[in-house]
Amino acid sequence: MKADIVTIFPDFFRGPLDYGITRRAQEMGLAAIQVHDLREFTHDRHRTVDDRPFGGGEGMVLKPEPLFECLERLDVAPREDRLAARAKQSVILLSAQGQRFTQKLAVELASLDRVVLLCGRYEGVDERVADHLADREVSIGDYVLSGGEIAAAVIVEAVMRLLPGAVGNEASTQQESFTVDARVKNTGADSTCGSNGLLDYPHYTRPAEFRGIPVPEALMSGNHEEIRRWRRQRALEKTLRNRPDLLKNAALSEEDKKFLAGIATEQ
Ligand code: ADE
Repeated sequence: MKADIVTIFPDFFRGPLDYGITRRAQEMGLAAIQVHDLREFTHDRHRTVDDRPFGGGEGMVLKPEPLFECLERLDVAPREDRLAARAKQSVILLSAQGQRFTQKLAVELASLDRVVLLCGRYEGVDERVADHLADREVSIGDYVLSGGEIAAAVIVEAVMRLLPGAVGNEASTQQESFTVDARVKNTGADSTCGSNGLLDYPHYTRPAEFRGIPVPEALMSGNHEEIRRWRRQRALEKTLRNRPDLLKNAALSEEDKKFLAGIATEQ
């Protein structure tokens, strides 16, 4: 997979993409990440990338010309081919106004040949970029960042680790929280997972007792059925506590429902 990041802070990416999975994916030849300095696509002495908003108001707005020019230079497939899925490429504008980034979208992007991430900055980006250049606008969460750089790093990390071979043990990316079944079977839910749409169960390693805190007995039992049941119940408890919204789309067995009903009557 090829990933292009367009930013006015190219040095920002020196750190985040040079470690762990993203570094490994690049070294293994699974991914090639290129960072492009938006200012290279300006033509004035001051390398201006922003301007005042029409209609007045606070702050500066990223100008459309450098972004359009940069994309033309990158030689991405035409927008209509991308939108019609004739080209396995996506151009994404990062902004707080975008659709929410989810594991489901990460899986979708991991199946593409190329993603181009446009990092927004300042108070906004000229809307012609969202309307005529990008295929979609994406936000990593309901909070406002000063720009799209951290969001781009988050997306690259989430997508690259899904590339076959990038993570040593592929089964682990299928087990974890939010792992979308889409690679196995698309359920259409927003964040279904290997454990059917629940948060991941808790993990423990040695020592068996740490500062007087023991590892749960069930995990030491060697009884596979007991371990399976313990993990499932802890995943259900954690999901109910931290992300109850996920339960309505989770695939729950009769046993799961009984367990949850039991918790409800306890409270
Ligand atoms: N730029 C500013 N806020 C953002 C967010 N939440 N996600 C992506 N890009 C952003």
